Amino acid sequence: MIQLDDLIAPASSQDKFGTHPSGVAWAPAQLAIFEAIVRRVDNILINAVAGSGKTTTIEAGVRFTSPNERIVFLAFNKAIADELSRRVPRHVMAKTFHALGFAALRSSGWRGEVDGRKLRNILQEVLPDNAKGQAADLDYGAECIKLISHAKSRALFLEEPASQSAMVEIAQGIEIDEGTYRLPQICNWAAQAFRISANMRDTIDFDDMLWLPFYLKCNWPQFDRTFVDEVQDLNYIQHLIVQKVSMGQVIAVGDRAQSIYAFRGATPSSMDDMKLMFSMVEFPLSVTYRCARSIVDLAREWVPHLTPRDNAPEGQVIIEPEVPVDLDYFFQNGAIHEPLIICRQNKPLIKLGLRMLGEQRRFTIRSNLEGSLTYFVDTLTKKKDQMPKDEFLDLLNAWFKDIEKSCHDSGRMGQLAASQDRYDALVALANDVMVVDVRSLKRLIAQLFAGKDGPLLCTIHKSKGLEADEVVILRPDLIPSRFAKTEVDLVQEYNLLYVARTRAKRILTLMYDPSEDI
Ligand SMILES: Nc1ncnc2c1ncn2[C@@H]1O[C@H](COP(=O)(O)OP(=O)(O)OP(=O)(O)O)[C@@H](O)[C@H]1O
Ligand SMILES: [Mg+2]
Repeated sequence: MIQLDDLIAPASSQDKFGTHPSGVAWAPAQLAIFEAIVRRVDNILINAVAGSGKTTTIEAGVRFTSPNERIVFLAFNKAIADELSRRVPRHVMAKTFHALGFAALRSSGWRGEVDGRKLRNILQEVLPDNAKGQAADLDYGAECIKLISHAKSRALFLEEPASQSAMVEIAQGIEIDEGTYRLPQICNWAAQAFRISANMRDTIDFDDMLWLPFYLKCNWPQFDRTFVDEVQDLNYIQHLIVQKVSMGQVIAVGDRAQSIYAFRGATPSSMDDMKLMFSMVEFPLSVTYRCARSIVDLAREWVPHLTPRDNAPEGQVIIEPEVPVDLDYFFQNGAIHEPLIICRQNKPLIKLGLRMLGEQRRFTIRSNLEGSLTYFVDTLTKKKDQMPKDEFLDLLNAWFKDIEKSCHDSGRMGQLAASQDRYDALVALANDVMVVDVRSLKRLIAQLFAGKDGPLLCTIHKSKGLEADEVVILRPDLIPSRFAKTEVDLVQEYNLLYVARTRAKRILTLMYDPSEDI
C-alpha cells in the first residue's frame, strides 16, 4: 500500500484534469490515479469502497491516454460494456472478457457457432441410458457442467487431456451432487465430456470463449493499456487473459468487500492475485460519492471505513414491514421515482413481477432465468407442452424432494439453495391464474421477462455496479442465506448485503414480508 503523502496530487492536477461531470472537484486520490495514468509508470490497483468512483475514475482515466494508443476497458458484463462503448473515446474498446476471447478465436481463423447447449448435447451421449430419463438425473448433467466450468475457469487441461483424477480434485473444493451415482463416476463423465468438447471445433459455449483460445494457442488482440473493472470477481483464466492482451500498463479497480461470485468460480483472492501477478501499486479510495449519510451508516456495519463525502445529504433508510398492496408504491409518484428493486433470491422478484404483470404495469426483470427455467421445464416434462399443471407440479415436487434429500445427506448447501430458489420460482409461476398447462406456463415465463422499461427488478448479484436514487431491498431477511454455513459462504453473504445497501444514493427501503408470501 502506498503512503498517504504519495496520494497528494500536485496542485496543478485540478487544472490539468478538470472536474467530475457534475462539476464537483475530483478527490486527491482520483487525481493521483490520473497522474499515474499520465506518467504510465506502474501497474495500478485501485482498491476502493462501493460508490467511491472506481468505474468513474477509470472511465475518466481513459481520456488521459493518447488517441494513438490502443486501449481496452474490460467490463464485467455485456450490458455494462455496451453502455460504456457509447461514452468512451474512439481509441478505447469497451469489451467483456468473453468478447476478447471470441475475437482471439476469430482472428485465428476459427469459424463456428456459439451454442449454450453444447455440453448438454455432449452429455446426452456420455451419460449412460440408465442415468437418463428420471427426474433426479437432470442434475448429473448439471454437475458435470459445473465441474467442467470450474476446470476452465482455472485454466486446466490446456496441455494434458482432462482426467477423472483431476476432476475429483476440483470436486473437493466445490459441491457436487452425487445422487445415486458416486463422485468418481460423475468425474469420469465430466472428464469424458470435457475431452469431447475440447475437440469439437464447430461449436463453442460461453466458457469456451475464455478457455479455447489458450487451448488452440490463438493470437490475442494486443493493447497498449488495459483497464479492468470489478477485479474482485475475476477468476484465474481472466487474469491470464489480462496478461495476454496487455503490452503496457494495467489499471485495475475493485473492492474486496464486493466479492460475490465465488460460487461461480471467481477467485476470492482475485484482487491480491492480480496485485502480485502484475506487481501493482495499490491506491485506496474510501469516500463514497454515491450514498447518503444514513445509508453509509448502515453499510458501515460490514465496511467500517466507508465514509460519506463532504456535504452528503442525510438521505433516508425506510423500513417497510410489509409489501404494499397498492403497486403504485413502485411507480413514479410525485417526488418518488421508480426504484431499483433487488433481492437475494429470484422467487420474490418473480412474485412481485407476476403481480405487476397481472395489473398490466410496465417493469423489467434483468435476469437470464427465462432460458434456464424454460429449459428446465422442457427437460422435466420431456417437452410435453399439453401436460396439465397438476401433473407438472407433481413432477416438480418429486424432483425437489429427491434433490433436497440428497443435498441434505451430503451437506451440499449451495446446491440446495439454488434448487430451492428454482423450485420456489416455478411453484409461484405454475400457481398463477394464467397457467393451466405447461404451454401456458412457458408463455407466462416469456411474458414475465419481456419488459424493457419501468422499474428494474433484479437479484443483488445482477445489481453489481448499478446505482439508483431509490432502492428497495425486497426481503432483506433472506440475507445471509440460511444455506450459507461455511465461513467463505458467510463472507460472500455479507458482501452481498453490502453491495445491496450501497446501490442506493438517497433512499434505501428495506421491505419485509412477515407472511413470507413474496
Ligand atoms: N469526484 C467525484 N465527485 C462527485 N461525484 C463523483 C465523483 N467520482 C464519482 N462520482 C459519482 O459517484 C457515483 C459512484 O461512482 P461509481 O459508480 O464510479 O463508483 P464505483 O466505485 O465504481 O461503485 P461500485 O463499487 O458500486 O462499482 C457515481 O454517480 C459517480 O458519478
Ligand atoms: Mg463500479
